[in-house]
Amino acid sequence: MPHTFVKLARPDDWHVHLRDGAALRAVAADTARVFRRAIVMPNLKPAVTTVQAAAAYRERILAALPADTGFDPLMTLYLTDATSADEIARAKGSGFVHAVKYYPAGATTNSESGVTALSRAYPALAAMERQDMVLAVHGEVTDPDVDVFDRERVFIDRELTAILRDFPGLRVVLEHITTREAAEFVGEAPGTVAATITPQHLLYSRNALFSGGLRPHLYCLPVLKRESHRQALVAAATSGSPKYFLGTDSAPHAKDAKENACGCAGCYSAPAALALYAEAFEDAGALDRLEAFASRYGAAFYGLPQNRESITLQRVPWRVPEALPFGDATIVPLRAGEELRWRVGAVVPA
Ligand code: DOR
Ligand code: ZN
Repeated sequence: MPHTFVKLARPDDWHVHLRDGAALRAVAADTARVFRRAIVMPNLKPAVTTVQAAAAYRERILAALPADTGFDPLMTLYLTDATSADEIARAKGSGFVHAVKYYPAGATTNSESGVTALSRAYPALAAMERQDMVLAVHGEVTDPDVDVFDRERVFIDRELTAILRDFPGLRVVLEHITTREAAEFVGEAPGTVAATITPQHLLYSRNALFSGGLRPHLYCLPVLKRESHRQALVAAATSGSPKYFLGTDSAPHAKDAKENACGCAGCYSAPAALALYAEAFEDAGALDRLEAFASRYGAAFYGLPQNRESITLQRVPWRVPEALPFGDATIVPLRAGEELRWRVGAVVPA
C-alpha cells in the first residue's frame, strides 16, 4: 500500500531567489507558506554586496508577507572582487547574514558583478574561514571554451579543489548540483562541504528540455544534464547522507522573459516544490528519507536550530496553475497545467 499521508518537520529552502519589488510581492508567499526559513540569493540589481543592503532587503521581504507567517529570511552577501574582511566581520556580527555567495562573473542571471578571478576573492575567503561564514557556490566555470554541459565538472577541478585546499576550515555549499561528478566529489569531501539539490534536477534530464520542442520553462543554470547524472543525484539525495539537502533554486522570471528568443534561466518551483521532491523520493522508494533531506540536514550544516513545527503531505492530486500573477506580468510555474500527486497541508504548530 502506498503512503497516503506523510508528516514531516517543517522544511527550509537552502537556496531561493525572491527578487524585489512587485516580483517579490508576487512570489514570497509561495515560499513562506511551506518553508520556515530560506537562504535568499543576493543577485538583485544592484547586487546585495553589503550588510546594510542585506538588512534593507530583509525588511522588504518581511513587508511583502502577511505578518503571521513566521518566515525567517536568511540573508546572503554577494561576493565581489572588492568584498572586504571588514564586511565579512560585519556580516557575521549581524546575526542575519548566513552565507556569502560566489558567482563567477558572467555565470548566470545578474552575475556581472561576480568574482572575475578566484584569487581576487582570497582575502574575503580567508576572512570567511576565520569567521566561520558559509560560502555558497555557483559551481560553473565561465570559460567560453568549456562546453556548457561540462562547466560544473570543470569548476570542481579548477576552482573548488583549490578553495578547499587553501581554506580547509571554510564551510562550503556547492549549490544546485547537476552531475554525478559533483555528487561524488561532495560525498568524498570533508564534513565542511555539502550540496543542495533542486527538484528539477531530481525529476528531469536534458531530454525534457527538448521533448516535442524547446521547453523554456525547464531551462535553468546549471542546465539539466543527461539521465545518468539525474540518477546519481537521486541516489545522493535519497542516500541518507547529511551532505545533501533541499535547495529549490526557485528562480522566477516573467513568462515573456522565458518564452523569448533569448530566454532567461530559472525554474519557478516554489508553488510545487515540496510536492515535487516528494514525487522524486517516492519514485526512488525513499519517502522515509524526505524529512531529513528537506527539514534536518540543512539546518544542521548551517548550525541553526531544528524546526519544531510540522507540515503534512497528503496524496490528493491537484493541478498546478497554467500561470500565476507576477506584478504586471504572469509567471509559469514548474509543472504548469500538470497534475501533482502530493498536496501540502497546513502547518502543524510545535
Ligand atoms: O537558472 C538560474 N536562475 N540559475 C541561476 O544561477 C540564477 C537564477 C536566477 O537568478 O534567475
Ligand atoms: Zn540560484
